[in-house]
Amino acid sequence: MSLKGRHFIDLADFERYELRRILDTAHDLKRKQKRGEPHELLKGKSLAMIFMKSSTRTRVSFEVGLTQLGGHALYLSPSGTQLGRGETIGDTAQVLSRYCDGIMARVYGHNEVADLAKYATVPVINGLSDLLHPCQIMADMLTIEEHKGNLQRLKITYVGDSNNVSNSIMQGCTIMGMDVTIGSPKKHDPSPDILKKAQELSEKYDTTLEVEHDPHKAVANADVIYTDTFFSMGQERDKKKEEALMPFQVNDDLVASAKQDVIVMHCLPAHRNEEITDSVMDGKHSVVFDEAENRLHAQKAILVLVM
Ligand code: CP
Repeated sequence: MSLKGRHFIDLADFERYELRRILDTAHDLKRKQKRGEPHELLKGKSLAMIFMKSSTRTRVSFEVGLTQLGGHALYLSPSGTQLGRGETIGDTAQVLSRYCDGIMARVYGHNEVADLAKYATVPVINGLSDLLHPCQIMADMLTIEEHKGNLQRLKITYVGDSNNVSNSIMQGCTIMGMDVTIGSPKKHDPSPDILKKAQELSEKYDTTLEVEHDPHKAVANADVIYTDTFFSMGQERDKKKEEALMPFQVNDDLVASAKQDVIVMHCLPAHRNEEITDSVMDGKHSVVFDEAENRLHAQKAILVLVM
């Protein structure tokens, strides 16, 4: 099925061959951009970008990406639009659909991006909700393929707080045939409904999906170690949670428990020396800045295919 006109909100809505198409397109667009070959595939198209939360990577990569594709992206914040004065998401979606060819949104509640998709008549892209971060994981899988040559049967271990990033890893990496382990303290396990959905995907795609409470056992034999901040945007810092998560810090000792050629990933921004040490973040296993760059290439592929 064509991806044209589809919303890009939840990786679980996609089949493996569809995510494969996005990754192949991303590799191709990245090659073209590096060689300076023109690829203005969205000439004259406009993307509305709604940011309810702050962003560095998502904002810049979508805006620059659309410019490289010959189109135009508009940054919309609640305070700069009528969203801040209570205009509904539904009305906003209908109005933006009359001007723009796509809508990208970074929101708090997942229901906000789902509502946009319900009322919009153009494709809606999830640029992060409290539940999921699908664009991030497409960029991550692009990065893993660049460094490892493939995805299937590789082991990725996410260590730390279960959040929107780990939720999308459990979906996207499983669909693409990776074995996924979540290493988290028991109190910060993935939510049961997200885990159940990911287990169904794991059965469908014949992969393994595990939750492990010992960080060293979690990363044993890992090809990829992945982490994220202990406190997501909008969450209050909490001493007890920090104490529970500190044993899951990605440091040299933890990395030594994985495969020798393990790569270390972080979606950024990082709280250095909290969830990841300087020595790992700046060390030989780290691919975090390739990963950040690949937000640009992966999202250009999503934009081209859905718009
Ligand atoms: N990883 C990520 O989404 O970064 P930003 O919050 O800077 O967009």
